Amino acid sequence: MSEATKVAVVYYSSTGTVYELAKSIVEGAEKAGAEVRLRKVAELAPAEAIAANAGWAAHAAETQDVPVATAEDIAWADAVIFGSPTRFGNIASQLKQFLDTLGGLWSKGQLADKVYSGFTATSTAHGGQESTLLAMYNTFHHFGGIVAAPGYTDPAKFADGNPYGTSHVAGQGELPVDDIARNAGQFQGRRVVRIAAALKAGLASAAEFAG
Ligand SMILES: Cc1cc2nc3c(=O)[nH]c(=O)nc-3n(C[C@H](O)[C@H](O)[C@H](O)COP(=O)(O)O)c2cc1C
Repeated sequence: MSEATKVAVVYYSSTGTVYELAKSIVEGAEKAGAEVRLRKVAELAPAEAIAANAGWAAHAAETQDVPVATAEDIAWADAVIFGSPTRFGNIASQLKQFLDTLGGLWSKGQLADKVYSGFTATSTAHGGQESTLLAMYNTFHHFGGIVAAPGYTDPAKFADGNPYGTSHVAGQGELPVDDIARNAGQFQGRRVVRIAAALKAGLASAAEFAG
C-alpha cells in the first residue's frame, strides 16, 4: 500500500477564526486519508498586547498545546495549507516571519514540487480576503510550489463564494465560523490531498521512467 499523503496545516490566529477554519481543513484532509500535522506559527506580539484583548488571551490559552510550526514540518509535508487573518489586506506578520525562516529549505530546493493552498478571515466582507490569499500565493511561486486553489470546483465553493481559498467574515468576533465556511474548509482539505497524491505518484513514476 502506498504511503499516506502528508499534509501540514500551518496557521496564525489571534482570536480563533482562522483556527476554526484550520480544524475544518484538517478534518477534510484526514477524511481523504492524509496524515496531517496542525501547527500554529510562533506569536510575536508582546504579552501585554495579548492580555489587553480578552478574545486574544482566551484563544492563546485555548491553543497553548497546539505545536509551534518548524521548518521540519514543511520539509516533511507533501502539501502545506497556510492560514492567516487579513492584516490590512495582507498576511499577518507572524505568518510572514515563519515563511521567512524557510530560506534554508528553499536554497536546497526542498520547498519545490509540493502542493500549497491558503485560507483566511477578515472582519468585513470586502476587507481583503482575496488580496491576502493572493499575497500569500506570491510566496508559493517563489517556492516552486504547485498552487492548488479551490476554484469553483465543488458546490461548497458556490456557497462560500471564494475561489482563492476558504474564508470567513468574522465581524468584530460576533460572527462565528459557520457551516458554509466549514464545508468549504473540508472541501479544500480533500482537494489538496487529491492533488498532492496525484502529483506525488506522477513525480515518482516520472523519475522511474527517466531512470
Ligand atoms: C492590525 C489589523 C489589521 C486588520 N486589517 C483588516 C483588514 O484590512 N480588513 C478586514 O476586514 N479586517 C482586518 N482586520 C481584522 C481581522 O482580519 C479579523 O479580526 C481576523 O480575520 C479574525 O481572525 P482571527 O480570529 O483568526 O484572529 C485587521 C485586524 C488587525 C489586528
